[in-house]
Amino acid sequence: MSSSEDESGEEYLFKIVIIGDSAVGKSNLLSRYARNEFNLHSKATIGVEFQTQSMEIDGKEVKAQIWDTAGQERFRAVTSAYYRGAVGALVRELVVQIGESIAKEDYEEFGRGKSWVKPSMGDSMEFRSSWFWFLSSCLHIVTIWVMSIYTKLRFDAWCEVLRSTHSDTTVARMLVGNKFDLENIRDVSVEEGKTLAESEGLFFMETSALDSTNVKKAFEIVIREIY
Ligand code: GTP
Ligand code: MG
Repeated sequence: MSSSEDESGEEYLFKIVIIGDSAVGKSNLLSRYARNEFNLHSKATIGVEFQTQSMEIDGKEVKAQIWDTAGQERFRAVTSAYYRGAVGALVRELVVQIGESIAKEDYEEFGRGKSWVKPSMGDSMEFRSSWFWFLSSCLHIVTIWVMSIYTKLRFDAWCEVLRSTHSDTTVARMLVGNKFDLENIRDVSVEEGKTLAESEGLFFMETSALDSTNVKKAFEIVIREIY
């Protein structure tokens, strides 16, 4: 009897798919969970890769085969073919990943990512008493508004991918807001993330592959849900 079988010989092998835009941190979430590793300069995933991870639930060993997919559009043909295959697999499971952007000046420091720059609401005197302050505030509001629309559009696009490739509605899904460590320059609020997740009936969690926040918890919630 293998370690993932119970007395009746039943195997507990769950399949989890991580999907989302490129550079949001999918590969690092998996490497943090499976090997406790983080790479600041990780390369974009080509196609799909997977890792198997075991955990114990109610005294039983459960194995999760976690598939990390490429977020880049040019690999979509390969990855979407994989999602379709997943429907017939032992367990169909999804973690949807929504991206956090990082500021341009942090690009080198934090590696790949989009470069939406939030206007700084600095506290210097010159800032407070001028039109510059007013214009910056307007720009700030517009940036938040644009990011909110962008986030919703990306979220809808990924939900559509799920809908078109998974006919089985019992699939457990989670929306993950990664790069929580960049909280000070966040452009997707917690409320916004929660609202998006609720609108599609998904679990929601904010994580950081960099400092490990909630990584284990996020995977375990999903695995428990399908167990
Ligand atoms: P694709 O493979 O192209 O789909 O990208 P991906 O989603 O797998 O992104 P990846 O894990 O390669 O991470 C992209 C960049 O974001 C890398 O420079 C990582 O170091 C960085 N990164 C990933 N997770 C975090 C995080 O939690 N915090 C911060 N600050 N950076 C992160
Ligand atoms: Mg990757």
